[in-house]
Amino acid sequence: MLRRNRFGFRMRRRSFSNRLLQVLVVLSVLILFVYFLLYALRLGNDSLGPDYSWLKTRNMSHFILPDEDTTLLEPRVNHCSPTEKLRLVMFIHSVPGHFQARRVIRKTWLKEMLGYPGVKGFFILGQAESEKEQTDVVKEHGLHDDIVQHNFIDTYVNLTLKTTFMLKWLTSNDCHHSKFVMKLDEDSFINPAKMWDSLEHALLHTATAKSLINYLPPTAATTTKSKQDLFIAESVDYLLLGHVFQTVPIRDPTNRWYLPSRFYPLNIFPKFLSGTGYVFSNSISQMLYQCALKSPFINLEDVFLTGLCATTQMGFKFTHHPGFWPSKPSIGPNYVCYYKTYPLVHPLMPDEMEEMWVKIKDDHNCETFYFAFVQYATSFVDLFRNLFRL
Ligand SMILES: *[C@@H]1O[C@H](CO)[C@@H](O)[C@H](O)[C@H]1NC(C)=O
Ligand SMILES: *[C@@H]1O[C@H](CO)[C@@H](O)[C@H](O)[C@H]1NC(C)=O
Repeated sequence: MLRRNRFGFRMRRRSFSNRLLQVLVVLSVLILFVYFLLYALRLGNDSLGPDYSWLKTRNMSHFILPDEDTTLLEPRVNHCSPTEKLRLVMFIHSVPGHFQARRVIRKTWLKEMLGYPGVKGFFILGQAESEKEQTDVVKEHGLHDDIVQHNFIDTYVNLTLKTTFMLKWLTSNDCHHSKFVMKLDEDSFINPAKMWDSLEHALLHTATAKSLINYLPPTAATTTKSKQDLFIAESVDYLLLGHVFQTVPIRDPTNRWYLPSRFYPLNIFPKFLSGTGYVFSNSISQMLYQCALKSPFINLEDVFLTGLCATTQMGFKFTHHPGFWPSKPSIGPNYVCYYKTYPLVHPLMPDEMEEMWVKIKDDHNCETFYFAFVQYATSFVDLFRNLFRL
């Protein structure tokens, strides 16, 4: 009896602390459950994200209208003559109201870039927000003759349309005779000499044309059979250069890069090139355009074109360039040596860009142990940030 009593007492004591533990465990599970439930509800709540009620179809042809003229403005002078040896055509995605950004770009890096042989540069825009704004854009275009404007509403979720309109204009224009095309954001800072170098030294990949037969333009597919045979027989040399991203979709509707899961249900992206600046060969621009027209709309232009089209569907390979910085280096992001050394750093506001342009022209020495150390430390920090997705 005594033993039992003692045993019972012990049991009771133990069971008291056990209970407490149980209660704690159950409570924390409940709290976690409610937390994840709320989180999931928030993630699933499209009403927090951008309004897609206008998107009645995801068929890109309905927006791009490949057989119709959709340009509102384009250069009056034919900048890309078919006889000129063109090396690079740059398209800067710009917002109609961002007059200052274009003004700064024109008088800084773009001006110098255009001094290299066979380089052309255009700003690509959608509709202006008001008639007044459109009048100003037309005036600006009158002065500089470097704006390509298409008929769509220029919003962040419509950047995929902007990229596809860029391809539409390019492929219907003599500019597609240039060797390379570059797509840029208006807040990307370019170091012309370094950018030129990275194109000079880029090695091309080769694809068999056979694997690309589905992406021939409709006209080429219907022209003489011999022409088509020729195309099939040949291989295609190409370059897809930029910062290669290997990442996952963001499902938080309040995030700028939110991707609704009904657009893309998988939880991993194919490799893609950061939209802050990527280069592709004109040898594949027509095929990229055809692929874009056939692919259902998603709101992330770089994932759409360089990921889902170029990688997943067409099987192209990328050339990663560590000197293309989609987000500024984490240590001393405004340190002048980054901008003197790397072809592309993003993002810079127009006044920062203007300031940095002056700075990179001074004779600041970057061949120092200090800068080597800073770069080393930066890559270390970035590695950690990527590992833990900070
Ligand atoms: C998209 O629209 C075009 C033009 O209306 C049509 O020819 C094409 O078949 C459509 N594509 C799909 C996948 O529905
Ligand atoms: C995107 O463009 C389409 C087609 O021009 C337009 O109907 C829609 O309103 C635009 N979306 C937004 C959010 O502005």
